[in-house]
Amino acid sequence: MRILLLGSGGREHALAWKLNQSVWTNPIYIAPGNPGTAALGVNVPLGINDFEAIGQFCKKEKIEMVIVGPEEPLVNGIYDHFKADEELKDIYFIGPSKEGAQLEGSKAFAKAFMQRHNIPTAAYKEFTIDNYEEGIKYLQQHTLPIVLKADGLAAGKGVVICQSYVEAIAEFELMLQQAKFGEASRKVVVEDFLSGIELSVFAITDGKNYVILPEAKDYKRIGEGDKGLNTGGMGAVSPVPFATPGFMHKVEERVIKPTIDGLYKEGITYTGFVFFGLINVNGEPYVIEYNCRMGDPETEVVIPRLETDLIGLCVAATQQELDKVVVRTDKRAAATIMAVSRGYPTGYEKGYEITGLEGRYGKQSIIFHAGTKEDENKKIVTDGGRVFCVTSLGENIEEAVNTSLDVLDNIHFDGIYYRTDIGYEFKPQTSGEA
Ligand code: AMP
Ligand code: GLY
Repeated sequence: MRILLLGSGGREHALAWKLNQSVWTNPIYIAPGNPGTAALGVNVPLGINDFEAIGQFCKKEKIEMVIVGPEEPLVNGIYDHFKADEELKDIYFIGPSKEGAQLEGSKAFAKAFMQRHNIPTAAYKEFTIDNYEEGIKYLQQHTLPIVLKADGLAAGKGVVICQSYVEAIAEFELMLQQAKFGEASRKVVVEDFLSGIELSVFAITDGKNYVILPEAKDYKRIGEGDKGLNTGGMGAVSPVPFATPGFMHKVEERVIKPTIDGLYKEGITYTGFVFFGLINVNGEPYVIEYNCRMGDPETEVVIPRLETDLIGLCVAATQQELDKVVVRTDKRAAATIMAVSRGYPTGYEKGYEITGLEGRYGKQSIIFHAGTKEDENKKIVTDGGRVFCVTSLGENIEEAVNTSLDVLDNIHFDGIYYRTDIGYEFKPQTSGEA
């Protein structure tokens, strides 16, 4: 099958790595890809939001399946673009319609959807400039902390947790009056703060049926012990020890099933990955957010644990045959540790040579590229804040983390930094009950 995968991060490297193992892949194109994906297929210099050029490429190369990695093209309607073109509409497509992508593209849409389908989530109200004064009054009588969310996509920065009324009102004003996040904060969702431990659960749906992929937990803060600024993700582990069969049963019955049924009943076209950002509040799952794609860096631990053929899964999703599919999972634990560049996440330098990537690591470890590039001398250099990650499989989380740390010991670039405490809450507990 001739496949085009859109994106260029660690998530896409992990997806390409898995697709490349399938006997069905022939060949795989990645747009725009990175030096890691170049070793698994053919990188194509296309912008992920340039739908015209992507469509032309698919026609020219007779692409049979498109898999979309990041959310932006989905929220911008790439699915609808393909379906509106006679020559593109029959290509198997993994990614929801523009309407379905609103689950991620609009927090207000997602909250209203959850309310309609009785899916547990924090209580909320939405405000625009038109009911600004009402919003201020709502904030003043709200209990602290207060969670403010820009409605639209804001590059992962649109959520602010306010510890005081002064901060909440200032932030509310910035978002609505000063357009802090541009279009994205023309509407603001104000919601109750939920206290608990987060996890990420993934499903792939054909619009009616679904299968659940291994769950994961990501580590968002830059510093050890979850201190410091938020990042795009410093590491992840899978499975999540507190995601016991009992808890996951609740997740499926209260969250996953009603979400897929809700999409189906409302006639919202959705074929692809659904990411449930959940929080465990005293053993009860609540939805913090939906994403219309896989997570990053969660994919880098979920995909290595997936034993089932990914192309088979994707084809079944496009054929509404996921009810006939069984997902097999590697019982081992996986951990990934992200190597970032000095200064990240505020500012960072790039262009430093990375050495040691070609080291002889055991089969249990995989290096996924994110912000790297090949320079004019064919050397791999840093090209982003999050540079690459090392995923390892092990008998338990601690073993997997230690193996990744050993690999990282041998890789160098000027200003390399990574957290050494990924999975800290779960040591020395053993896992393997996924
Ligand atoms: P989001 O962009 O929706 O993933 O939110 C970013 C982060 O803010 C989440 O991963 C949570 O850690 C936190 N967060 C969002 N909503 C809430 C909430 N209602 N209660 C507590 N924390 C939240
Ligand atoms: N790791 C969180 C995300 O991909 O949004």
